[in-house]
Amino acid sequence: MQKIQTDILIVGSGLAGLSLSKYLSEINPNLPILLLSKTSIDECNTYYAQGGIAVVHDFLKDSYKQHVEDTLKAGKGLCDEKVVQHVITEAPKRLNELLQWGVELDKNSQGGLDLGLEGGHSQNRIVHHKDKTGYEIETKLIPLIEKLPNVTIKTSFFATDLIIENGHCLGLKGFDEKGEPTIIEAKATVLATGGSGQVFGVTSNPFVSTGDGVAMAIRSNVALQNMKYIQFHPTAMFEPRKSQAFLITEAIRGYGAHILNSNGERFLLEVHKNGELATRDVVSKAISEQMKKENGKNVWLDLRHLPIEDFKNKFPKVFNYCSQQGFDITQDLIPIAPAAHYQCGGIIVDEKGATDKLQLFAIGECSYTGLHGANRLASNSLLEAIVYSHDLADYLTSTVFTTQLKFNENTVLTYKNIHHDEVLQFRNQLQRFMKYESIYGEKQTIIKTYQLVSELLKRFRMKYKKYDSHPFLCETYNLIQTAEIILKESLPVSYKRNKISKKTKL
Ligand code: FAD
Ligand code: SIN
Repeated sequence: MQKIQTDILIVGSGLAGLSLSKYLSEINPNLPILLLSKTSIDECNTYYAQGGIAVVHDFLKDSYKQHVEDTLKAGKGLCDEKVVQHVITEAPKRLNELLQWGVELDKNSQGGLDLGLEGGHSQNRIVHHKDKTGYEIETKLIPLIEKLPNVTIKTSFFATDLIIENGHCLGLKGFDEKGEPTIIEAKATVLATGGSGQVFGVTSNPFVSTGDGVAMAIRSNVALQNMKYIQFHPTAMFEPRKSQAFLITEAIRGYGAHILNSNGERFLLEVHKNGELATRDVVSKAISEQMKKENGKNVWLDLRHLPIEDFKNKFPKVFNYCSQQGFDITQDLIPIAPAAHYQCGGIIVDEKGATDKLQLFAIGECSYTGLHGANRLASNSLLEAIVYSHDLADYLTSTVFTTQLKFNENTVLTYKNIHHDEVLQFRNQLQRFMKYESIYGEKQTIIKTYQLVSELLKRFRMKYKKYDSHPFLCETYNLIQTAEIILKESLPVSYKRNKISKKTKL
């Protein structure tokens, strides 16, 4: 078993992890940092982000107050107002830093930043790079980080578990790119592991988004909150057999696209005065109900009335993907359905990103800061990632941490071969159980799914005593554990009460 030492260990190379590396290095260019990613450095949710970043920019029309109000409204009373204020007022400074780092954003005809509109926003305020903002961020930041002499990057490293002793996190264990069991000792460990969309059968998230950070937190008793608030994006292309459904950015609805039922009618205006531009929870719910009425058939995105040349220029990624799939957007309707998209809850952190374990921090999608409440406002997550990475960098560079890791039974890790197909069956089964209705449907559906997933978890534990002996095995366990916690939180109160009273009778 090999051992590596570093000062700051960052798990994840999405916007949260990359920007933290950059901020830390700007403050202290000699600080030893180890940055991990599970597969290639750019494969993550950030890479696929389309719409952009919500920032108040046009102060003549827009204001922090309006952005704050929109965020609070979307979050349905569950946001932490202080956090919302902080993130939104810091946004312009963080945007400037992204621009200084070389991220290019679209300009309008007057040479200012072009501001897009998305659901739940009362103003145009989404800065973007066409419909591939995440790709632009990753491809500009990665070369900058690769050049930093104090940052070591390890790709294809799978972190299995945190090492926590007496309430302090002293690093983690995992497998390196050759499958070699490895311990990393760190003075501060930062989880920037992204979301958990792959828990669901239909998701916009890539294969790497398996809730690993959250599952590590569960196993180390790190506090979590609001895991039941999984945001479904209303307009993913209807591709039920693909492990990652292609997203059609909400900015296209901001640009004028309509959603139609199978009779060719717009039905969202009956549900909400803002129609297609209501917040995501409203639109996804209405689509799911419509699909139920139509026996599970998808609904349609209508782009036919939009100016084609301008559309191609603004949304080349969506245009090209539709064309590759054989759709002529000037003639054809695009089949769409909601897809699991964003984990609004996560690992509870304070204003600097600290968890309830000393020397352990979390930023980005895996964290719960209080910004999003029950439903994230569109394009607020890239913003949250960079604001928190900035603030955490300040804290980490002004604080002295020490570590004294001893080898004991908690630090042992061994690699074993697995029967890949057998493990895959657990994953497939989980993803068949986990649908929109499993958390937002009838009470009985939620209870049934919870029971099925709890049973699956039991079977997994019986079959695999050492879940951490192989990355794919551990990742599958992470998915099932994350699903269980999402469902447990979603259970109707009456069911939980019943269970508790049965237990006390025994
Ligand atoms: P990620 O970018 O997901 O990075 C996670 C990193 O953690 C990866 O490098 C991964 O390899 C690593 N990792 C995970 N587990 C392990 C492990 N066990 N061991 C080692 N490494 C590990 N938000 C917006 O604000 N605007 C948008 O326009 C937008 N569009 C989106 C479009 C799509 C299709 C998707 C999927 C999301 C979109 N979002 C958008 C959400 C946003 O992209 C994410 O919330 C954000 O990028 C998360 O960044 P992150 O750095 O926290 O995580
Ligand atoms: C999108 O472009 O529709 C995604 C935006 C987001 O998830 O914030």
